[in-house]
Amino acid sequence: MDHFLYRDGALFAEDVPVNEIAASVGTPFYCYSTATLTRHFRLFDEALEPLDHLVCFAMKSNSNQAILKTLAELGAGMDVVSGGEYARAKAAGVPGDRIVFSGVGKTATEMRAALSGGIRQFNVESEPEMELLNAVALSMGVVAPVAIRINPDVDARTHAKIATGKSENKFGIPIARAKEVYARAAALPGLEVTGIDVHIGSQLTELEPFELAYKKVAELTQALRADGHEIRRLDLGGGLGIPYTRSNEAPPLPSEYGDLIKRTLGHLGCEVEIEPGRLISGNAGIMVSSVIYVKNGEGRDFLIVDGAMNDLVRPSMYDAHHDIIPVREPAPGTEQAPIDIVGPVCESGDTFAKQRDMPPLASGDLVAFRSAGAYGAVMSSEYNSRPLIPEVLVKGDQFAVIRPRPTFDEMISRDNIPEWLL
Ligand code: LLP
Repeated sequence: MDHFLYRDGALFAEDVPVNEIAASVGTPFYCYSTATLTRHFRLFDEALEPLDHLVCFAMKSNSNQAILKTLAELGAGMDVVSGGEYARAKAAGVPGDRIVFSGVGKTATEMRAALSGGIRQFNVESEPEMELLNAVALSMGVVAPVAIRINPDVDARTHAKIATGKSENKFGIPIARAKEVYARAAALPGLEVTGIDVHIGSQLTELEPFELAYKKVAELTQALRADGHEIRRLDLGGGLGIPYTRSNEAPPLPSEYGDLIKRTLGHLGCEVEIEPGRLISGNAGIMVSSVIYVKNGEGRDFLIVDGAMNDLVRPSMYDAHHDIIPVREPAPGTEQAPIDIVGPVCESGDTFAKQRDMPPLASGDLVAFRSAGAYGAVMSSEYNSRPLIPEVLVKGDQFAVIRPRPTFDEMISRDNIPEWLL
């Protein structure tokens, strides 16, 4: 459920007509709904009751300061994967003890920053990382809290580019070697092992892969405890999928996911962390774009819009589907016809949808790409020297630009001309 609905024939973001935002900020732009973000965060938070738990928003899905602050005020922690994300989380007011640091390639500089600014735990993904973190912590005279990410060798049955839990993926330590690696970690004085971390992939539309992975985590917890390790915290990753089409998909609900966690791991008495990104931010955002031209081609027509693959890369990168709807609601009974929806970038890959049934549209009409709040703005670029598009946050009947569109001059002034060219 989200808060982008038609009212009296016009698409609204909560209580704000989308065309009013477009008139004020120009297209294309991203628009997020506070009520949807809040609702989705709370669904997870409630789903884990009565466990001792922390919902850490995977801010790689949307790292705008206003989004982070909205969630932080609800009590969210953050899952960060870079020094930049750590700095953003801190800047949004998230206390260090609510930040977990994931990722396979943490550098010593990133470790130092997190250890001095405060960190709940590092999710350590390899033995070399473990050794480096130990050395960095010792050099600073501190002890680094860690969970070790294990790779459970489970097929998440999702797009290959976003599956992470199979043994051939680069993530985590093979579960078969976990005992040995925990023994080594326990011997390192700069580390304090607090628990186990697992994340098997993103956009999972079934619970079974989670169940397989979490059962393995439960067994491992007991095996490690038997070896004398104090496993008190389980980080279960993110990955719960969202419906990208409003018609047929029905991924599991956060409450069902929460029940699964309680059923598979509840008896262990651990503190539980989860790292959802997409399910919190995905359907909390749309990308609004204008039709530039309707072009009639040989045997197929093209709707050329002012948003492009640099603004929303998911369709060209993962063949992802985003529902695309007109901002002015078509009258009941309006005939639809198939059309290719494309951006202006000079690549055929700049295609959002092929032969999508759409009502008749004309130059200047607005369309909204739904489910664009996660992995939209954060993955955008200035390819073709197209400025990063603005982001707008709505709350009730208010809206605010939370990232302005840079001017061409601002964009150009980030480059430097070396002395020899002056
Ligand atoms: N935790 C870890 C360690 C992760 O690697 C990820 C996502 C998450 C949590 C959050 O997963 P979520 O709940 O959002 O599914 N750009 C791709 C998705 C990449 C996901 C990467 N890791 C896309 O647009 O589909």
